[in-house]
Amino acid sequence: MEGITIRKMSPADLSEVSNIENLCYSTPWSPNSFKYELANKEAILKVAVFNSEIIGYVCIRTILDMTHLLNVAVLPEFRLRGIGSMLLKNAVGELKRLQPNTKLTLEVRQSNIAAIRLYEKFGFKVTGKRTKYYQKPEDDAILMELDVSLFFSD
Ligand SMILES: CC(C)(COP(=O)(O)OP(=O)(O)OC[C@H]1O[C@@H](n2cnc3c(N)ncnc32)[C@H](O)[C@@H]1OP(=O)(O)O)[C@@H](O)C(=O)NCCC(=O)NCCS
Repeated sequence: MEGITIRKMSPADLSEVSNIENLCYSTPWSPNSFKYELANKEAILKVAVFNSEIIGYVCIRTILDMTHLLNVAVLPEFRLRGIGSMLLKNAVGELKRLQPNTKLTLEVRQSNIAAIRLYEKFGFKVTGKRTKYYQKPEDDAILMELDVSLFFSD
């Protein structure tokens, strides 16, 4: 989609990001969760901007030798236009420059076909399942992993 830019998230973005978070999840992160990640040197947080408005974001964080994709969301009216893909490309591309050999892991609701398709597109493979991991509504988690050394951003 034309006119979208991806840039680093800053503390000034918190209220817009939290509004999107509340629209997207039944158990949303609090603004403090985003603040915590923004203060963490091991975290990569990016926003997608269109007409000066934030329309999506992604959060990745490294803990020891593993990196976790903690959050990615796009405003409902902007979905299926490649913005989730732009966010992932940008954030995982940066991760690869910083840590070319890390593994990127994530959990996703088994029912979340949109997110699973997005992750599969970037080469994430299913590595396991956690039964009844999610509440509101109850759901299993699919565990996925990407070998970042195999990630190509083009
Ligand atoms: C998951 C999410 C971030 C995807 O964002 P998006 O901007 O729509 O993603 P894209 O347009 O880049 O789509 C990526 C791929 O997934 C596919 N996809 C996305 N939504 C889909 C859907 N509802 N059904 C089937 N495929 C879908 C697209 O077709 C695309 O594949 P393609 O390039 O081969 O066509 C978005 O649906 C969202 O914000 N969901 C709510 C928050 C959420 O669940 N986050 C994940 C938590 S683990």
